[in-house]
Amino acid sequence: MSSCCEPQGYEKVFDDREARRAAARYARSGLSTLPRRTLELYRSGVVTGATLLEIGGGIGDFQVEMLRAGIERATCVDLSTGYDAVAADLLAGAGLTGRATRRLGDVVTHPDLAGPADVVALHSVVCCYPDARALVTAAAERARGYLVLAFPRRTWWMRAAGVALNVYPRLRGSDWRFRVHPRDVVVRAATDAGLRLVRTERFAFDHHLVLAR
Ligand SMILES: C[S@@+](CC[C@H](N)C(=O)[O-])C[C@H]1O[C@@H](n2cnc3c(N)ncnc32)[C@H](O)[C@@H]1O
Repeated sequence: MSSCCEPQGYEKVFDDREARRAAARYARSGLSTLPRRTLELYRSGVVTGATLLEIGGGIGDFQVEMLRAGIERATCVDLSTGYDAVAADLLAGAGLTGRATRRLGDVVTHPDLAGPADVVALHSVVCCYPDARALVTAAAERARGYLVLAFPRRTWWMRAAGVALNVYPRLRGSDWRFRVHPRDVVVRAATDAGLRLVRTERFAFDHHLVLAR
C-alpha cells in the first residue's frame, strides 16, 4: 500500500470502530443499497469491464463482490486509514488479496494514486468531499468504460439531516463535513470529461447514476 494521505479530519470520522461496524453490517446483510445496485447492473451486463477502480471504497465489500462477479482486478483509493485492517481481512477471507490493490490518499490532490479502469465507482463519496467537481472530474478521467456515481439527493430534508449529521464531526474535532452537492454540478463534471449519462435512478435518499464513455 502506498501512502500520501491528507486526512483533513476524515480519520476521526472514518475510523476503525466505524470500519468494524460496517463489516458487521456486511456480514449480517450483505452490500448496502447503492453498491448492491451497481453490482446488479454489472451482473446483468448494463455495466461491463474487467477492471474496477473504487474511490472511497471503505471496507472494500463492493470490491469483493465485484471480483466474485467477474471483475479481474480491483483498485481502491481511500483517504482514511481507519478501514485498512478490516479491508485487508475481508479480501484475505475471500481469497482475493492477489487481485486487489489498496492505496491511501486523496485521488484529487494525488492523481498518480490511480490509473484508468473499465469501471470507476463512487458510492456515498461525493458527499464526503468539499469540491464535488474536482472529485468527479478525477473519477471521470479514469473511467475507460463506465462511471457510477451514487450520492445524496439535494432535498430540503436531506440538507436538514446534513446539519444534524455534522454535529458529530464537530464534537470529534474533525473538519470533515457531510455535503449535499447539486446533481447538476456532479453530472456536468462527468460530461465535461467526455462521459454521457446513460442511466438515472432515484432512491429514497440518493441518486444512482451511470455514465458511459
Ligand atoms: C461514507 S464513506 C463510503 C464508503 C463506501 N463507499 C460505502 O458506500 O460504504 C466515504 C469514503 O470516501 C473516502 N473519500 C472521500 N473523499 C475521497 C477522495 N478525494 N479520495 C479518496 N477517498 C475519499 C473517505 O475516506 C471515506 O472512506
